[in-house]
Amino acid sequence: MHAAVDAGSAEALAGRMLRLVQGYRASCVIATAVKLGLLDQLDAGPMSVDELAKRLRAHGSSLRRFLNALEALGVVESQASGVRLAQAGRLLVDPESGLRERAILSAEEYIPAWVKLGESVMTGEPAFPAAFGMNVWEHRKAHPELDESFNRAMADLQARARSSVLDMYDFSSCGLVVDVGGGSGALIADILQRYPDATGLVFDQPHVVVRAQAVLAAAGVLDRCRVAGGSFLDSVPTGGDVYILQYVLHDWSDADCATILRHCHKAMEPSSALVVVENIVPEGAPPSESLAMLDLHMMVVLGGRERTSSEYRSLLHSAGLEIRRCVPGRPYPEVIVASRDDAKRASEDPAGRG
Ligand SMILES: C[S@@+](CC[C@H](N)C(=O)[O-])C[C@H]1O[C@@H](n2cnc3c(N)ncnc32)[C@H](O)[C@@H]1O
Repeated sequence: MHAAVDAGSAEALAGRMLRLVQGYRASCVIATAVKLGLLDQLDAGPMSVDELAKRLRAHGSSLRRFLNALEALGVVESQASGVRLAQAGRLLVDPESGLRERAILSAEEYIPAWVKLGESVMTGEPAFPAAFGMNVWEHRKAHPELDESFNRAMADLQARARSSVLDMYDFSSCGLVVDVGGGSGALIADILQRYPDATGLVFDQPHVVVRAQAVLAAAGVLDRCRVAGGSFLDSVPTGGDVYILQYVLHDWSDADCATILRHCHKAMEPSSALVVVENIVPEGAPPSESLAMLDLHMMVVLGGRERTSSEYRSLLHSAGLEIRRCVPGRPYPEVIVASRDDAKRASEDPAGRG
């Protein structure tokens, strides 16, 4: 009896390991369906395989085999009238889901970089430049369609993190909110919509921040928000009551984070607050699989890392900033509120807000 159970669980374990070993196949099938425009064609309605082959100018019998794999993965389903998107496939064409953008980025950037994971493990350096001959930010600048995909994926993340971040910090007594590395402005748009008396400034790389105008206009807050292009490795705009760094620090090494934080410190008044939004690695317990994988992703693609609260505390401290308050997420992200270490603790409103 025991032997049978053991054999069964050994077989299940081997099956699980095989699926992990061959996980690249499913990633490539999904990314290819997105890239070929197959899912967009089916989004218009079910169609025969011959019609789909004609529209895609694909090789008929190979397309049929490809559709078999997509059906096995639950992306499409066959019916009498032809092939149609299954529920999971509809998520891949939903612009709000961000999944389509992630599939494109996986195919074009992440998989080639992750293949070189071993180089990062051996050298401590990001593997992305070994795969592409340039860092990821330079690569996206050279490929605006990938930059667009990345910014859309980030905006989707913002849409999902929206309630947690906005509910975790009260911006009601802020004048100017500066979103440092604010991408295409999704977070500041949310803040300004909720707080009609606040004004905003989105600061990001010049080729990224130009996209923010449209997002801010669509949210109806363009009249209260400026955009500024530059590098936070050089300086950060002055004049903010609150500075936000959302999912920025985990992109960077400790040395680069220290530079970014020093520039924030220099731009801040003693009364300004710095709001850091990040996933926090639990102390003394292994991180979840998703957080451990995200940490590796930061290592391979960017040379960054996921950090514990104490690691953020010492990074901030090294730049002359002190944590005043931490608001744990459910379970992620966490909001860390800091201010300059010369800020008067008695009037420590930055820490007390919210
Ligand atoms: C992970 S994204 C986070 C975007 C946004 N804060 C959010 O939460 O959606 C990191 C951002 O840092 C920006 N960035 C990268 N290098 C930068 C630099 N040197 N100066 C300013 N922004 C930079 C990227 O363009 C990107 O928008």
